[in-house]
Amino acid sequence: MERKEKNQNLLHLRELSKEGGGKERIEKQHDKGKLTARERINILVDRDSFVEIDTFVTHRSSAFGLDKQKIPGDGVVTGFAKIEGGPIYLFSQDFTVFGGSLSETHAQKICKVMDLALKNGVPVIGLNDSGGARIQEGVDSLGGYAEVFWRNSMASGVVPQISAVMGPCAGGAVYSPALTDFIYMVKNSSYMFVTGPNVVKTVTHEEVTSEELGGATTHGSKSGVAHFTMDNDAVCLQSIRKLLSYLPQNCEEKAPTIKSVEPNKAKADSLDNLVPLNANKPYDIKDVIDGVMDQNSFYEVHEHYADNLVVGFARLDGRSVGIVANQPLALAGVLDIDASLKGARFVRFCDAFNIPLIVFEDVPGFLPGTDQEWGGIIKHGAKLLYAFCEATVPKMTVITRKAYGGAYDVMNSKHIRADYNVAWPTAEIAVMGTKGAVEIIFRKEIEKAENSEKKQKELEDSYKDEFAHPYKAAERGFIDDVILPSETRERLIKAFELCQNKVDRVPKRKHDNLPL
Ligand code: HXC
Repeated sequence: MERKEKNQNLLHLRELSKEGGGKERIEKQHDKGKLTARERINILVDRDSFVEIDTFVTHRSSAFGLDKQKIPGDGVVTGFAKIEGGPIYLFSQDFTVFGGSLSETHAQKICKVMDLALKNGVPVIGLNDSGGARIQEGVDSLGGYAEVFWRNSMASGVVPQISAVMGPCAGGAVYSPALTDFIYMVKNSSYMFVTGPNVVKTVTHEEVTSEELGGATTHGSKSGVAHFTMDNDAVCLQSIRKLLSYLPQNCEEKAPTIKSVEPNKAKADSLDNLVPLNANKPYDIKDVIDGVMDQNSFYEVHEHYADNLVVGFARLDGRSVGIVANQPLALAGVLDIDASLKGARFVRFCDAFNIPLIVFEDVPGFLPGTDQEWGGIIKHGAKLLYAFCEATVPKMTVITRKAYGGAYDVMNSKHIRADYNVAWPTAEIAVMGTKGAVEIIFRKEIEKAENSEKKQKELEDSYKDEFAHPYKAAERGFIDDVILPSETRERLIKAFELCQNKVDRVPKRKHDNLPL
């Protein structure tokens, strides 16, 4: 072959590889409202930044006539690129090639980008759209999955790992996304389950559709497996770009800082009158977040799951921070099993990647009931407590209203090494709410009283004077100050400036024993 022909041959082979499983299968993919593996990459990364690797990899299997069906790339497009100028490694499964199923070589391609990501300290993004193990390859495929799982575990806490599930993801295959930091799912075109509707019907006689069993809405609201539920592929990919803008490249780096934008003035001005004096009246904690943080910077995680606790990324004076906030609008902001798990996972992510934490606290305690006790609120609540205890990033707490009981300790209290804790004048820091407390400690007096209603009211008033305010805690230095709500932003910015080079360590050990 002449030089010119050789070059042309290369270009021809490249073009061929881009066809994936062919026109017909691409049309089928589009008919389902899904983009192809390459179309997804084009939306995800900065223009012209994608560099493909392993374009010409094919499988080595000959079983069931597979030797006659070799498609360059073997069902997954891999490589590196940039997002908003920051490097990333990625893989994008191509459903048009053997249903995106994972063969030995398909797995090797994924492992190669994961190894490179770990070695170079760069985030890795996986776009999953796959029929699971390549059935014709049997145990070779299962081994391939295990190789991926092992790398997911080794990369955990070292580089951010983000998964988008944009099609089927079933059986053991679910465990790779599950081991990563964040899972995105797309409504009506993706599902995740360990066993599908047919097996469920055989074993438990339940009739359920794929969407009900493991669709985006289910995992975004019921199980909490998905952190984000998106309307379509394009919105999902844009949203991953946004998430990346809050994250450092790896656990050694600081999160990026961008130009600061003051909060919306009306939102900031409303803070001083936002919290109702009646402790039973709700308000939206997201109004507090919007009034304090940089304008439109809040990027909520797990928006539809355990909405009694709000978590997400935001910016304060241009710096990335992680927000954990009780939400009085949902279950009065109480902590339950789901909220504890949601919060613990988020706090640990932020701590692993040097993202400072800000807690907005208005919590009446832990949710009572047999569901919660038998479901293990003790061990799950302990996860949130543990996560705050072990976090060594700068961490601040703003008590807006209730800080009752054990939840006061758990929610990033001073005692577990928070750096700067303040309370608003509306704060009530006590073992429990007024009514409950009075009914327990003055039960006999109330029963004996001629007018027990009047007596109870008197006792409640005196309990309120004694405890329903932040000054007892301030007297002891358990909070650093009581501040006006409108002073919060400025105080937090100043406090964070001082914590930029914070050094805090945990004792040397093989690893901790987080209460699982
Ligand atoms: C090989 C597969 C495949 C697989 C799909 N295909 N799944 N090839 N191995 N696992 C091929 C099909 O033969 C077909 O090829 C093409 O992909 C598209 O599949 P369709 O069935 O036409 O698509 P659709 O109707 O959209 O259905 C998608 C599907 C279905 C629901 C994913 O294909 C399916 O049920 N596949 C099998 C899923 C499965 O049981 N996988 C193994 C799970 S166990 P042509 O040539 O016709 O286009 C597992 C264990 C992992 O994954 C263990 C890890 C520890």
